[in-house]
Amino acid sequence: MIGIFDSGLGGLTVVKEILKHIPHYKIIYFGDTARTPYGTKSAETVIRYAIENTQFLLEKGAKVIVVACHTVSSTAISLLKSRFPEVPFFEVVSPSMKKALKLTKNKKIGLIGTRTTVESGIYEKLFKEVDPEIKLYSNPAPLLVPLIEEGWLKKPETRKIVKKYLIPLKMRGIDTLILGCTHYPLIKKLIQEKAGKRIKLVDPSEEVAIEVKNFIEVHSELIEKFFSNPGEELEIYVSDITAHFAKIAQLFLGRKVVLKKINWE
Ligand code: DGL
Repeated sequence: MIGIFDSGLGGLTVVKEILKHIPHYKIIYFGDTARTPYGTKSAETVIRYAIENTQFLLEKGAKVIVVACHTVSSTAISLLKSRFPEVPFFEVVSPSMKKALKLTKNKKIGLIGTRTTVESGIYEKLFKEVDPEIKLYSNPAPLLVPLIEEGWLKKPETRKIVKKYLIPLKMRGIDTLILGCTHYPLIKKLIQEKAGKRIKLVDPSEEVAIEVKNFIEVHSELIEKFFSNPGEELEIYVSDITAHFAKIAQLFLGRKVVLKKINWE
C-alpha cells in the first residue's frame, strides 16, 4: 500500500493525482484532523506528529510513505528518513522546487505556504544550492488552511484574502508561484484568477504523484498492483471526524469515502 498523510484535507490533492497517475495501487490515507493545523506549530511538535503518523501507516501495511504536507516536508523529512531508514519517503518540497525552476523565465519565483513552511527557509536554501540567481519572494498565508478546512472554497471572503496575500508577490514581478501547501490546490482556480494568466502555478500534488509513479514502475516488487474499481469507496483514517471532511473529500475526489476514526491512545 501507498501510505499518504497530511494534517487534514490537504493531502487529498495528492491522493487525487496519485489515483490519476497510478490508479492500480492501494492507498491508505491519514488526515490528522484532531491536531490540524500543523502550519502554526513549532518544528519540534510537527516532527513528533510526523513520526507518529508514519508509524501508524507502517503498522497498517504501507510500504511507501508520501508526506503530503509542505509543513512536514520542510521541517521533518530528514528526521523521518533517519528514523525509518528502510522506508522510501516522498515529500512535496523538492519536486515543487524542480518544477518552479523549469517554469520560471525571469527567475523571480513566489511562494505562499503556512508560516512554519515559509519560516523554515527550505526553499531559499534549495534554490541557492541549484541556482543562486533565483529570487524567491515568499508570503505566509495562514488564513487559507482554516478557510479550506471549513469548506469556504468560493466565498467572497476567501477571494479577498487570496488577493491580499498575492499583491506583494505580484508587485515583485514573479512569473511562477509555488503553492507551498497541499491544501491550496483545492482553491487553485481562484488562486490562478487572482494571480493572473501571466503567472504559472506549481501544484505540489501533480509533481509528487509523478515521482511516486516513476518510483513504483521500477520497484514493482515493493507494492502489488491492485485492480480496483475507479468508483470504489476510499477508506480514509482521521484522528477526528469533522463536519466538512467527508463532504469535501467526496466532492473533490469524486468517489465515496468511508471515514475511520483512530484513537491515538
Ligand atoms: N496541508 C499542509 C501543508 O501542506 C498543512 C496545513 C496545516 O496543517 O497548517 O503544509
